[in-house]
Formats: sequence, structure tokens, C-alpha cells
Amino acid sequence: MEKVRKTLCEPFRIKAVEPLTVTTNDYRRRALEEAGFNPFLLRSVDVFIDLLTDSGTGAMSDRQWAGIMTGDESYAGARSWLRLEKTVKELTRMPFVFPTHQGRAAERILYGILGGQGKTFISNTHFDTTRANIEFTGAEAIDVMPEAAKDEEVFLPFKGNIDLLQAEELILEKGPGNIGAVIITVTNNSAGGQPVSMANVKSLRGLCDKYGVKLVIDGCRIAENAFFVHEREEGYQNKTYREIASEMLALGDAFIMSAKKDGLVNIGGLLCLKDENLAQQCRNQLIISEGFTTYGGLAGRDMEALAIGLDEVFDPDYLRYRIRSTTYLGEHLRSMGIPVVWPIGGHAVYVDAGKLYPAIPKDQFPGQVLVCDLYLAGGIRCVEVGSVMFGKRGERGEFIPAPRELVRLAIPRRVYTQSHIDYVIEVFGDTLEQRQKDRGFRIAWEPPFLRHFTARFSAV
Ligand SMILES: Cc1ncc(COP(=O)(O)O)c(C=O)c1O
Repeated sequence: MEKVRKTLCEPFRIKAVEPLTVTTNDYRRRALEEAGFNPFLLRSVDVFIDLLTDSGTGAMSDRQWAGIMTGDESYAGARSWLRLEKTVKELTRMPFVFPTHQGRAAERILYGILGGQGKTFISNTHFDTTRANIEFTGAEAIDVMPEAAKDEEVFLPFKGNIDLLQAEELILEKGPGNIGAVIITVTNNSAGGQPVSMANVKSLRGLCDKYGVKLVIDGCRIAENAFFVHEREEGYQNKTYREIASEMLALGDAFIMSAKKDGLVNIGGLLCLKDENLAQQCRNQLIISEGFTTYGGLAGRDMEALAIGLDEVFDPDYLRYRIRSTTYLGEHLRSMGIPVVWPIGGHAVYVDAGKLYPAIPKDQFPGQVLVCDLYLAGGIRCVEVGSVMFGKRGERGEFIPAPRELVRLAIPRRVYTQSHIDYVIEVFGDTLEQRQKDRGFRIAWEPPFLRHFTARFSAV
């Protein structure tokens, strides 16, 4: 047995560097004020460690950059497309594969066909673009997570699972013919990047077969999920990560992927299907809005890089390092007494700012306070996932808070080293010392939709 060492060595060395700007406290205070205390409005050059998202922010390998140079830019039947199609078919075992410019384009095409007035979609948790694309068609999107998985402190190996009983009740209540699809999101992004077990997807497949309902796998983090199945689910220790991912994908009728995550590329998406009739309808839509079926809005070089990324992502050294580095951050914060969603998921650490700043009322956004404090203390950018993002106004204009006031620190793939992460931990330590706050923010301006992106705040 190889010794597991304490030092988390990145399984790569650095060949190109991108300088980071080191800023002072005064500089960051001015930048934050100019951005209306909303880190989305900061310029990236004013950020030292950017943990806003893991989507499209990863670093490509030397093999991928070499692929960029050999990409075939032919309009139809490009070599790069054929390579990508072969890679994806081998992985998914689905006969119809379409490239898209990113995940939500695949969602718009598929749910535009399966959705519409009177249809219901059921999921462990719909990601926000998934929900938006479904609701845009007039259909409804309902999340069914097991009650136990909502407890953020309890350790469950597969907290991302769907609640099968609730899903069946909904199918019966709405009528199987009115179910647009059941969607299983792996890992479950909006629920903390928590994994989904193979047993759960197998049972879900059985349920969908029983009622003749389609099963869609929203699997942009399918490799990270495979890692957890390998670690935590009986019977998978001798299978490779790729075999586990393939086994899970084979259970779906369709697979949607934002390639900006486990595709290890900066842009791209995939829509894969088993049903020929449905594939023909999707093909028509793809040509209308994305491009010809052999590029779907991507350049040949993008497809070349994606084919290579889908190979590299299953490298055991990479996946071990990837999940260990997220866990490393989460475990350190937890050991400092910082309330984190437990266990740590695959791509991000979620901190409960509501618990960290108990004196700040929810309508003064404790999550936004933490997000701003981390930027001020050390130039770290992350995102509030609480009442700024999900808070609502009731019928009488009253404030309805989000269920939790979380802050997400998402780790870009292959970008930061252990010393960067140690720095984040140190900055958290400083923030903890200075957090005796009892006042937060009020919203100075907000747009009608998705306010977290562009709202401006002022101190109460
Ligand atoms: C689970 C999930 N589905 C779909 C999407 C949408 O993908 P994209 O951002 O490429 O449009 C995302 C993006 O974060 C996601 O996490």
C-alpha cells in the first residue's frame, strides 16, 4: 500500500503562469464600494483567489492546448467532432450525441420538447438554469430530496439522492403521462455538491420503467460522483471511475452535460439520447439555434479539447487530488469551528453564514456580509447562496428568507495549489476574529430577476 501523505501535492507541474494581483486592504475596500458590495460586479483583476464558480474556470492540460492547435474547423463532419462523438458514445453508450455551446443550451432544447403547460418535472434538485428552462415552457419543476439529507450536520454517504417515495407519489398524483421527465442531478450541485448513489439511480430507473417515464441524467460532475461511489458504495471498489460513470449513464434515457465542469474545458456542453424519435426533434432544434449537428455552437478546437478533457477527468491521480483538495479546505474550516455543510461535497465548500453571524437578521443578508468580509480580508471572491439569491417577497410585500444563509466556495479545477487553499484558510481565521457584527446590508438597487448577479447593496 502506498503511503497517503499529509501534503496534498498537485499531480501536475506548472508550465504557463497567470499572474495574480496582490492588493491592499484600502484598495479592496474602494473596489468593493464601487461594486456596490456585490463581488459579481468586481473586476477579476481585483480578485486574488476566485472561488465564485467551478464552471468554465478550470485549467486545461498541455495535451488539451495541443489539441486546440490541431482542432479541425470544418463546418460539417470535422475530425474533432468525430473524435468527440466516439469518446462520448464510449462513455455514455447512447447512440445519439449532440454538441452544444454549454449545458443550458442542451436543457433548452430537451425541455422545450419534453415540457410545456401541464407537464411536471421531478428531480433531486433542479439546478437554477434547469428550473428556468423548464418553467419557461410553462411546466413545473419539483424537487424531492430525502428529509434526512436536509440536515447539514449529519453524515450521510449519498446526501444528493432523490427521495424515491416522494417521486412515486408525485408521478401518481400528476399522472405518468404528465411527467415531462425525472431528472437526477449528479452530483447534486444546489444541495452542496453531494453525491448520488448507484443504488438510488438504479431504483429510479425501475420507477421510471414502472410508469413509462423518461429519466434524464444531468451529469456535469459525473466523474466526481464516480469517485464517491468508488469510495462509499459497496461493490464498486474494484471498478474504475470511468466504468462507474458509464454504468450510471447507461441507466438514463438522456444525458445532459455542461462540459465546463468535468469536461475540463472553458466552454461546451453535450446532449445525449437513446430514443431516435426524440433525437430527431432535438436535432431540428439544434440546427435552428445552435449550429449544424457536428459542431452545435462550438469551434472544432473546443471539441478537440473536450474529447481530451473527458479522458483526463477519469485519471485516478487527478480525481483523488480534486476531491481531496475540496475536502482539505472544508475539513480545515470545520476544525476551526466554522459551520460547513457536512460531509464536504465534490466541487465546493458551503459555509453557513447564518450560524457564523447569528446577530445579523436574515433580511440584512449574513451571507453577503461573509462574502464581503472574505474579499476585504484577503481578496477572496465567493458567492452568497442564501436570501440574496433565493429570498422572496410575499403577497403583502413581507420578506421571506431562503431556507439557509449559505456561502459557496467553489474550487476551479487544476487552478489553485495547496498554498492558495492554505491562504484561504488563514483569511477565514482573520475573518473569524473580526466578525463581531450585528448589522448587515440592505439592497440599494435590484433588477426584477436573478438579482444576486447585479444588485447593489449599502451598509445598514
Ligand atoms: C447541475 C448543473 N446543470 C446545468 C448547469 C448549466 O450549465 P451551463 O452553465 O454550462 O449552461 C450547471 C451549471 O453550473 C449545473 O451545475
